[in-house]
Amino acid sequence: MSSPFHTKAILILLLAVILGVSNAQLSVTFYDTTCPNAYSIVCTVIQQAAQTDVRIGAKLIRLHFHDCFVDGCDGSILLDNADGIVSEKDARPNNQSADGFPVVDDIKTALENECPGVVSCADILAFASEVSVTLAGGPTWEIQLGRRDSRTANQIGANNLPGPSETLESLTAKFNAVGLDTTDLVALSGGHTFGRAQCRTFSNRLNTSNPDPTLDATFLQTLRQGCAEGGDTRRFNLDPTTPDDFDNNYFTNLQNNRGLLQSDQELFSTTGAATSAIVNRFASSQDDFFSSFAQSMIKMGNISPLTGSNGEIRTDCRRVN
Ligand code: HEM
Ligand SMILES: *[C@@H]1O[C@H](CO)[C@@H](O)[C@H](O)[C@H]1NC(C)=O
Ligand SMILES: *[C@@H]1O[C@H](CO)[C@@H](O)[C@H](O)[C@H]1NC(C)=O
Repeated sequence: MSSPFHTKAILILLLAVILGVSNAQLSVTFYDTTCPNAYSIVCTVIQQAAQTDVRIGAKLIRLHFHDCFVDGCDGSILLDNADGIVSEKDARPNNQSADGFPVVDDIKTALENECPGVVSCADILAFASEVSVTLAGGPTWEIQLGRRDSRTANQIGANNLPGPSETLESLTAKFNAVGLDTTDLVALSGGHTFGRAQCRTFSNRLNTSNPDPTLDATFLQTLRQGCAEGGDTRRFNLDPTTPDDFDNNYFTNLQNNRGLLQSDQELFSTTGAATSAIVNRFASSQDDFFSSFAQSMIKMGNISPLTGSNGEIRTDCRRVN
């Protein structure tokens, strides 16, 4: 029936198909025919939510970061505990911290009403990140789309997310491990130009007998007093200069020893580190920061997506189908 030649041809064809699937690329036009209003639907829901929650954009972009760094941008962070699912939401960096899930649900509901079963939860986080940055005055970028959703979560992986007290060397290694370089680390840390952090994430810098020497003395007093009064869960602005705007003040703060997290200040204050020059560049040119940030967001959004027939399009972002 089939000659050796045919067998070989079929094998080569199969191999090409498999490689084609595993190399499948995200694209800017992915929903152009299947859900042409997707972007404006995401915009509408986020703008609505922003009327009662000034932090919603900050919450949503952080979800995308915490999604992409754990087994790729596959919506895994959105899964609740269930049979066979140990939720990433309970991992240490996310517990009592990651937020914005109800708004993700609202976006999903609006999209399911318009184009059922089409837009993945992983792509919702990519859409929402760009919309949030743009609404806060930051850059726009061409959102790459076509991710599919995981059927698994990885809480152990989520526990290994970059932490606020890690050394610059360790942060750099974690970024490198997902294909992001030193410029990406500095640019993406600029995401801390908006949003808040709880005292528990930087209280190690406030130690009475041994405060972090790279923390401005006046800022130190403010933080000590606020955290003493408000406790571990009291929140401070990550960017004390323009707390809710997406701009380059995060970097001028670092030059003035007013980074909130140790992981922020290290980018500027670590002796001999290549990151200091990048901080200076972004501090002196907001355009430079914006174009690097946009580029790095696209790179982060491309970490190991599920594409083709891998994964699924969840109907409910909190549950596998
Ligand atoms: C470099 C490694 C990073 C570390 C160690 C880090 C750590 C943290 C910590 C500890 C918080 C405060 C959480 C809380 O107190 O509940 C936070 C908040 C935040 N992070 Fe990061 N982060 C990093 C990178 C990023 C990246 C890449 C982005 C986005 C591009 C980002 C966006 C945000 C935002 C917007 C908030 C505020 C969220 C809110 O107001 O609820 N972070 N981050
Ligand atoms: C999450 O944090 C709360 C409050 O600190 C704590 O009671 C709870 O045990 C934590 N959950 C997990 C899974 O660690
Ligand atoms: C403060 O720093 C001192 C000296 O390094 C250390 O012994 C102590 O455990 C620290 N206290 C806290 C609460 O971290």
